[in-house]
Amino acid sequence: MPAGSAFTVAIDGPAAAGKGTVSKEVARHFGFAHLDTGLLYRAVGRRVLDGEDALAAAQALRPEDLHRDGLRSPEVASAASEVAVRGDVRRALVAFQQGFARQEGGAVLDGRDIGTVICPGAEAKLYVTASDEVRARRRFIELQATGHDVTFDGVLADLKARDARDSGRTDAPLAMAPDAVLIDTSEMSIDEAVAASIAAVEARMTGER
Ligand code: CDP
Repeated sequence: MPAGSAFTVAIDGPAAAGKGTVSKEVARHFGFAHLDTGLLYRAVGRRVLDGEDALAAAQALRPEDLHRDGLRSPEVASAASEVAVRGDVRRALVAFQQGFARQEGGAVLDGRDIGTVICPGAEAKLYVTASDEVRARRRFIELQATGHDVTFDGVLADLKARDARDSGRTDAPLAMAPDAVLIDTSEMSIDEAVAASIAAVEARMTGER
């Protein structure tokens, strides 16, 4: 990549598909900055649970809000997907995400609407997904390991409810961009998913399709 230029990698997909790890590793591999845009919605959801108005919370969001404890809890995930249906909340978060995406030196953003709405012109787009069962199993293990009192069935039900809300909303629904590369991680180890993602981004960099 020529010095001083921007290159955006947009990574979208449903809950617990492995976007987080894939995005972090893709960013590390290419030396790009990384933004987990789910954290923006989780931080707004957290402030709503604390009694704030969703739009006011989105407009007042500060970088330190993304580092608050407890943002990974199932309660905050649900609150995030509830605030994420609001067009005014989403619009309040657009400029920050687009500014991040076009920074010099390259950026990876992961979320639900990055390749479709936030960065439709992204140089590389991936859609990372896996079966419902596999995603629920991964999230269940992750939540258990971080001390949350959860059951597999409960996690699966939460995940399906959130996917339905994210895919069904009118404003920026979860969807695969037509020019995205599909990475189905159901049968892949994390290393395989990362390798497939890096290869897909490299192909876009060198102009292959
Ligand atoms: O980690 P996980 O995939 O479970 O969720 P997340 O990426 O942290 O996103 C939490 C919630 O924020 C999602 O269920 C969406 O409702 C919302 N979100 C969104 O609407 N748009 C984004 N670009 C990112 C997240």
